[in-house]
Amino acid sequence: MKLNIPKNIAEIIPYPPGKPMDELEREYGVTNSIKLASNENPWGPSPKAVQAISEVVQNLHRYPDGSSYYLTQAIAEYVQAQPGEIILGNGSNEVIEFLVKAFVRAGDEVITSHPSFLMYQKFVAVRDGKNIVIPLRDMEHDLEAITAAVTDTTRLIFLDNPNNPCATLISRQRFADFLKKLPESVIVVLDEAYIDFVDPEERIDINALIRNPDGIPAVLALRTFSKAYGLAGLRVGFGIMHPEIASLLHRVRQPFNINLPAQAGALAALQDQEHYNKTMDGTRQGRNWLSEEVRKLGCVPYPSHTNFFLIDVQCDATELYEAMLYKGVIVRSMKAYGYPKFIRITVGTAQENSRFVQALSDCL
Ligand SMILES: Cc1ncc(COP(=O)(O)O)c(C=O)c1O
Repeated sequence: MKLNIPKNIAEIIPYPPGKPMDELEREYGVTNSIKLASNENPWGPSPKAVQAISEVVQNLHRYPDGSSYYLTQAIAEYVQAQPGEIILGNGSNEVIEFLVKAFVRAGDEVITSHPSFLMYQKFVAVRDGKNIVIPLRDMEHDLEAITAAVTDTTRLIFLDNPNNPCATLISRQRFADFLKKLPESVIVVLDEAYIDFVDPEERIDINALIRNPDGIPAVLALRTFSKAYGLAGLRVGFGIMHPEIASLLHRVRQPFNINLPAQAGALAALQDQEHYNKTMDGTRQGRNWLSEEVRKLGCVPYPSHTNFFLIDVQCDATELYEAMLYKGVIVRSMKAYGYPKFIRITVGTAQENSRFVQALSDCL
């Protein structure tokens, strides 16, 4: 075999997913492991979603509705937008991919922060676009440096808000000031994967921004069913945007990108307020409890607007991560992200949180 591999593809570093639990148990000989590494919902999927999925599996021999009509209608109503302002993806990851496919040609620039969600840069590299990466400042998006980095060939700016991994949030005022300084030719993508965990008072009003684009660049938001709705394994996310942008993204998507169980499960999850509230309450309580407990162990928890947070463990984070694996507890070391003494943990159930604190105490 003699492959002719494009340089931009050869240089891509595969996305490092959190260690799967069965892999840990196989390799380390531990049982009952817990994973607090991928910002998933520890309370599981909505029981209503599970029920809805089990009902539609009878129809798996049929293609799904390519327009995801009912789910799109329900999402539009939920986010107070028009159906034409919504586009669904196989996870919000896929909407990121649509954006890069639709707007980035070889050599075009895309601005992201470091650290932030890694998939933006990956899709840009696949397209042979140019990644312009701006370091966070004090763990926040450096909007001034991002503005200064914009050129005639900048197509997209990706901002995860809250940021993953630092869990920080851009204030409404800072964002409004930022938009005023940008040329109208760029598209600003607010990745709101964790927006459900943010105080409603602090959320950016995306609907107003997509509908009043005169004098400012296009702004759009990405959301997901993988976090607050507990459906990471089902793969459903969506974007809220000006209908003109949505119609362009429809051109680049596959006709059946949201499969049949995904449409049914997400629709049911959206209507399960009880499970949603349980997730919100449990996350808030767990985050507060964990912050207090890790402080008692001499670590420094960082403030968070999401279901995960950073902890300064005051020692080598990767060594600690390795030691915790032997206790059956999976977290993330932030060493590769430029924070050698930090780990990131996802808030778990009360029981998982206790296990984590015990393991942390033993390993420190
Ligand atoms: C900031 C951010 N955006 C997007 C995603 C991906 O979400 P999805 O599962 O909808 O593809 C994640 C997942 O961890 C994330 O942290």
